Amino acid sequence: MKKLLALLKCRHKHITVSVLLLATVYAAATFIYENYESFDYDPNRGAAVVENDVFGDKVSTIQYLNQGWKPNDSLWFYNTTQGSDLLPYDFFLVLEQVGSAELFRSNENMNNHYRYLPQRATRADPDGLPVGFVKDNYKGKDYMGFTCAACHTGQVNYKGVGIRIDGGQGDADMENFIYDLSEAMNAANDEKSEVHKRFVRNVLALGHYKTEQEVDADLQKYARRIALYYTLNQSDVRYGFARLDAFGRIYNRVLEHLVDGPVLRQAMSDLVAEKKMTQAEFDAIFSDERVLAVLKSNSRDHILERISPFLTQKHLLAIRCELFNSPNAPVSYPFLWDIPQHDYVQWNGLAANAGVGPIGRNTGEVMGVFGTLDWSEKPGASVSSLIGGQGIHPNHISFESSINVHNLRRIEHHIASLNSPLWQDAPLPPLDMERVARGEHVFDQHCAACHAEIDRADPTRRVVAHMSSVRNVGTDPMMAKNSVTYMGRSGILRNQYVGAGVGNVLIGERAPVEALLTKADINVVATPHPDKWWWRRGFDWLYDLAIAYFSNDIQPSIKRGDYTPDTTVSPYASLESYKGRSLNGIWATAPYLHNGSVPSLYDLLLPKKGDKDPAEGEYRPDMFLTGSRELDPVKVGLKSSGYNGFAFDTKLPGNSNAGHEYGARPVTLPDGTVEPTLTKQERLDLIEYLKSL
Ligand code: HEC
Ligand code: HEC
Repeated sequence: MKKLLALLKCRHKHITVSVLLLATVYAAATFIYENYESFDYDPNRGAAVVENDVFGDKVSTIQYLNQGWKPNDSLWFYNTTQGSDLLPYDFFLVLEQVGSAELFRSNENMNNHYRYLPQRATRADPDGLPVGFVKDNYKGKDYMGFTCAACHTGQVNYKGVGIRIDGGQGDADMENFIYDLSEAMNAANDEKSEVHKRFVRNVLALGHYKTEQEVDADLQKYARRIALYYTLNQSDVRYGFARLDAFGRIYNRVLEHLVDGPVLRQAMSDLVAEKKMTQAEFDAIFSDERVLAVLKSNSRDHILERISPFLTQKHLLAIRCELFNSPNAPVSYPFLWDIPQHDYVQWNGLAANAGVGPIGRNTGEVMGVFGTLDWSEKPGASVSSLIGGQGIHPNHISFESSINVHNLRRIEHHIASLNSPLWQDAPLPPLDMERVARGEHVFDQHCAACHAEIDRADPTRRVVAHMSSVRNVGTDPMMAKNSVTYMGRSGILRNQYVGAGVGNVLIGERAPVEALLTKADINVVATPHPDKWWWRRGFDWLYDLAIAYFSNDIQPSIKRGDYTPDTTVSPYASLESYKGRSLNGIWATAPYLHNGSVPSLYDLLLPKKGDKDPAEGEYRPDMFLTGSRELDPVKVGLKSSGYNGFAFDTKLPGNSNAGHEYGARPVTLPDGTVEPTLTKQERLDLIEYLKSL
C-alpha cells in the first residue's frame, strides 16, 4: 500500500510538472503569436488616397496625430477580428460591382460610395481592404467582417492633407453599402449570367473551394442572408453618411435568431387575423413540404433565413412588421477615446462599464455586426446554460457563435491607451490662446456641469457621464424612446429571467427587446468559442473573463445626472435620456448631437428657428449636406454645402435638430437656474476653447 502511495505521489509530481510545462509552453506560444500579430509596422499605417474623390475632397497625403498609438497599434486595431462574418472572404475579394467588371472592394468604390477609408496592402491586411474590413475564421472557413475600426476611425481633410483620427467618428453609409452588396451578390447569383461564370471561376482560382457546387451553395446562402438582413432592416428615414441605427439593428438581429417554429406560426396567424395575409396564403405556406422540413428539423437556428426562399417578398415584408421593429433612429458613430475610463456609455447611457460590462457591450455589438449566431436547442444542460441562467430543463439553448470574446477583451484594453486628437498637433490654423482662455471661462460657467473636463493623457482620468432626460435636453427623442419601447417575441428565451435596474424581470411571450438582448448577451458571453480545443476553450474563456473583471478599475456606481430612474412599472425608464461626456477631440467629430443633426460647433451654439423667431436671425440649418471630409476650421464642422452629398433633412422623424440650446437662447435648467444666451463674442471664444480640447 505504501509503495502504491509513493508511486502515485511520484506520478502526481510528474503530472504536475507536465501540466505546468504545458501551460508555460502554451502561455509562451500565445504570447509570441499575439505579439507577432502586432508586428505590422507600416510607417504610414497602410493609408491610401483616392485620386478622384466623388465629392471633390482633394487629398494628396495622409497624416496621423499623436494619439498615443504607434503605427502598429493603429494597424492592430484595424485588423483584429472580433468574429464578424458578413460573407465568405473569397467572395468579397472577387465580387464585382453591378453593371461593371470593376471590383466591389476597390478603394474607389469603397471611398466614393460608402466612405470607408481606403488602405494599401500591409502584412496584416494583405488584400488592402479598407480600414476595419478583416478576415475572420470560423468553423474552418474564412469570412469578411467588420472590426471596430470600420465605424470608429475618422478622417478630416484640410488643404490637401487627410488627417486620420483613430477612434474617431466613422463616415460610412453602411445602409447603402449593404444594399449595393446585396445587389452585387444577387447579380453574381444569376446562374445564367457571365457575371456568375466569372465569379465562380475567380473564387475557384483562389483555391479554397473545391467545386462549382460548393461555391453555388454558399453564394445562394449568403445572397439570401444579406438580402434578408436588408429587407428586415429597412427604415423610413435614410441614414446617409456617418450614421447608423446600431441598436435598432442589433435588436432586430437578436429577434431574428430567437424565432422558432411556434413563434413563426403564431406571427403568421396574427397576420391572418389582422387581414395582412389570407388564410389560403397561410395554409399554402404551412403545407409546403420544404417549409415543414425546416420546421421539423432539430436545429432551430436561422429559421427565418432558411424559410425565406419559399416566401414571397410581400410575405417577408408582412413578417418584418409583425416580428421586427424599424431601425429608424440613426445615430452618429461616437468616438472611442476615454471610453474605458467612463462609468456609463452609449448615447443613452445603456451600458455600464464596470466589471465585465465592456465585454458584454462589445459582444452585443458583434451580435448586431454580423457575428454568426448558431443558436440552437440541445438536450440537457451545459455549464454555459447554467451560467447563463437557463436553469435545468430537458433541453437548453446553446448560444454558440463566432463572437471572439478573447479579442474583444484585448481590443477594449487597447483602447485604454488611445488619446483624443489635439488640434495643435494637426496642420490647422493656430489657436488664438487669448480667446481660448476667455472661452474656458465661458465653458466653466455654462457647459462644465454636464461635460466634465479631463486631462486627455492622464492615465488615472475618469469620466463621469452626465445623463439628461430627453425631456430636459430636448433633442430628438427617437433613439432613446425606441431603446425602451421596442418589444419583441421572446421565442427560445420565453419564461427565463433577466436582471434589470430594479431587479429581475420575467421574459414573457413578448418582452422589451432590451431584456432579450441582455439575456442573449449573457448567454453568448457564457459560451466559449467553438473553434478551440476543449481545454483551451475553457481555459481561455475563464482567463479572459477573470482578466477583464479584475483588471477593470471601474466599479458599479450610480448613474449621474437628471433623468427618470428605473421603476417597477418601467424597468428601463432611465434609458430615455442622453449622455453628456467630456468634449476632448470634439473638433474632429462633426456632425454633432447623437443623431448628427447639427453640422458644426458654431451651428450648435445657435438656436433652432421656432415659429415665433424673427426671420432675419442666425439659426441652425434645417437642411445640409453630409459626405465631404473637408474641415471648416472656423465653424468647426465638415463642408455642408456646394457638392452632391447626402441631403440631411432635419424635418424628418429622427432627424430633429432641436434641443440642447445651452448658450443659444435662455434655457431653464432642472435646478431652476436660467442659462442666458451667449453673446456672439462669447460663442466664438467658446468655440476656440472647444478646439483646444
Ligand atoms: C458597424 C459599425 C460599428 C462597429 C463595427 C462597432 N461600433 Fe461601436 N458604435 C457604433 C454606433 C452606431 C454606436 C452608437 C450606438 C448608440 O449609442 O446608439 C456605437 C457605440 C459604441 C460605444 C459607445 C460610445 C459612447 O460614446 O458612449 C462604444 C464604447 C463602442 N461603440 C465601442 C465599439 C467597439 C469596442 C467595437 C469593436 C469591438 C465597436 N464599437 C464596433 C457602431 C459600430
Ligand atoms: C444640462 C446638461 C448640459 C449642458 C449644460 C450642456 N450640455 Fe452639451 N450635451 C448634453 C447632452 C445630454 C448631450 C447629448 C445630447 C444629444 O446628443 O442628443 C450634449 C451634447 C453636446 C455636444 C455634441 C457631442 C457630440 O458628440 O456630438 C456638444 C458639442 C456639446 N454638448 C457642447 C456643449 C456646450 C459647448 C455647452 C455649453 C454652452 C453644453 N454642451 C452644455 C448636456 C449638456
